[in-house]
Amino acid sequence: MDTKEFLKEHAVYQIYPISFCDSDGDGKGDLKGIVSKLDYIQSLGIRIIWLSPIYASPMKDFGYDISDYKSVNPLFGTMEDFDLLMEETKKRGIRVVMDLVVNHTSDQHPWFREALKDKNSKYRDYYIFREGKKDKKGRYLPPNNWTSNFTGPAWEEVEGEEGMFYLHIFTKQQPDLNWKNSAVLREVEDIMRFWMDKGVYGFRCDVISEIYKTTLEDGNPKAGIGRPIGMEHYLAQEGNHRILKTLRKDVIDPRGGVLIGECGGNITPEDGRKFLDGELDTFFEFDYANCYKNVFSADVSEKKLKKILIRWQKEVDWNGNYLENHDQRRVFGHYVRGKYADYGAKMLLVLLYTLRGTPFIYMGQEYGAHNYPRPLKIRDCQDIVTQNVYRLARSYHVPSFLASKIAHKYGRDDERAPMAFHSGPGYGFSAPGVTPWEPYNPYSSVYNAEKEEGDGDSILSFFKKVNLLREENKVLSYGSISFDEKDPQKDVLAYERKLGDRTFVIVLNLSNKKRKIPESVRKEKGKKLLLTNYKEASSFLRPYEALVFLK
Ligand code: GLC
Repeated sequence: MDTKEFLKEHAVYQIYPISFCDSDGDGKGDLKGIVSKLDYIQSLGIRIIWLSPIYASPMKDFGYDISDYKSVNPLFGTMEDFDLLMEETKKRGIRVVMDLVVNHTSDQHPWFREALKDKNSKYRDYYIFREGKKDKKGRYLPPNNWTSNFTGPAWEEVEGEEGMFYLHIFTKQQPDLNWKNSAVLREVEDIMRFWMDKGVYGFRCDVISEIYKTTLEDGNPKAGIGRPIGMEHYLAQEGNHRILKTLRKDVIDPRGGVLIGECGGNITPEDGRKFLDGELDTFFEFDYANCYKNVFSADVSEKKLKKILIRWQKEVDWNGNYLENHDQRRVFGHYVRGKYADYGAKMLLVLLYTLRGTPFIYMGQEYGAHNYPRPLKIRDCQDIVTQNVYRLARSYHVPSFLASKIAHKYGRDDERAPMAFHSGPGYGFSAPGVTPWEPYNPYSSVYNAEKEEGDGDSILSFFKKVNLLREENKVLSYGSISFDEKDPQKDVLAYERKLGDRTFVIVLNLSNKKRKIPESVRKEKGKKLLLTNYKEASSFLRPYEALVFLK
């Protein structure tokens, strides 16, 4: 099958390796663990997996800080284990997408170490070093007012070089690469070829919309909550588009691969269209992820969600549709809550699989993995964002219980809890008695793969049905999409997918209240119900009800 079509016709299943399956009893997932679960992944009907980074890394940001792009982190195994993974996935008709993190490297990468050691080394220009500004008292301040995505200034003074700083738009252990230097481009192309020659299908490109820094002028200090200062100088820049076109032409197209981009920073649909024009095959944008009711609450506003979905679906023709990942909370207690939440989780699966674009499923989402029932103690949180946000809130004298709540909303520990393959000790993630790197989630004994496999009404069984529906009906991948925008209900979504003479009608109650079936759907006579998350259809919409009809 044509390589691009493959990504259009199949969903992508994301694996966060450290939390997936631990084969050697160190409490951390690894490559052999993944290999041991490939039959499970295949049983779900999955054809593409995306591996979060498995490269050598000091793990300050759990692999998103790479110190050697061509080797496997010993924590996850060896290159032989990786080759085995490629072999075993191939046998099962599963393709593998790697994470490519090239906005920055780790500060332990030999390029950066060399750049620090020798100012005249060619590696100095692989990064962005600048002299700071002096204040009135002659002390050095950073070269500009930019802040990091992870809070605090985006510049770090170089040890032993007074007044000299380097840029890091994430943690200080993640120095930004200088994409104005063509040597960086050549290095990255070489890395991509290396992995593609091993048979990988393509790359999920980390924060790819932010790699090119057009200028280093001060940013607008009123950037807005959650948006780092300075972003207007590096978000979705022309230079960024040029680079992606080059990578595509030099490496991806000749090998028949795909590029999936993480495009943060609230890009616009217009930016999105540009990224799809000879650059990326699909991308993630963040409007979905940020439609909270307000800054303090982790509850999603269904009204905002509906508006955002319609806007992106109408204006861009191939979105990467996701709700959960290693940076975003599980949908429970966030998108769906209360006693009907399980119906809600199923309804959201229908949403992901029936919108236009590629569906992205985060490991565990298939059986309804939950966030922790209550925030973990801050000292048990592993994520740097959770820690930073907590510290920041405390520095404003926010009481510790509230600081912890806010830290959990923005932090990323919940979604990184170990997988639950069964209810027994270790939950199939690790051997009994092993302490996992991130605490087990108590919900694991209720929501886990084995338990749900034996239950026809479970979230897992429903997941398989939804996945199969899209596999078997090309209208869900290639069909046009049109929304019922006349229905006055702000939390009910109704749309049609149409390909040739086949039309699917989808109705979703995004709320946990009773709602009406939209008039446009009610008046369609003779439609056939193909899928529902309740036992049978009724004359109104029950909480979180999802209906898929063939017209
Ligand atoms: C992306 C990754 C996230 C990481 C950040 C910096 O947003 O998904 O996990 O912390 O980039 O690399």
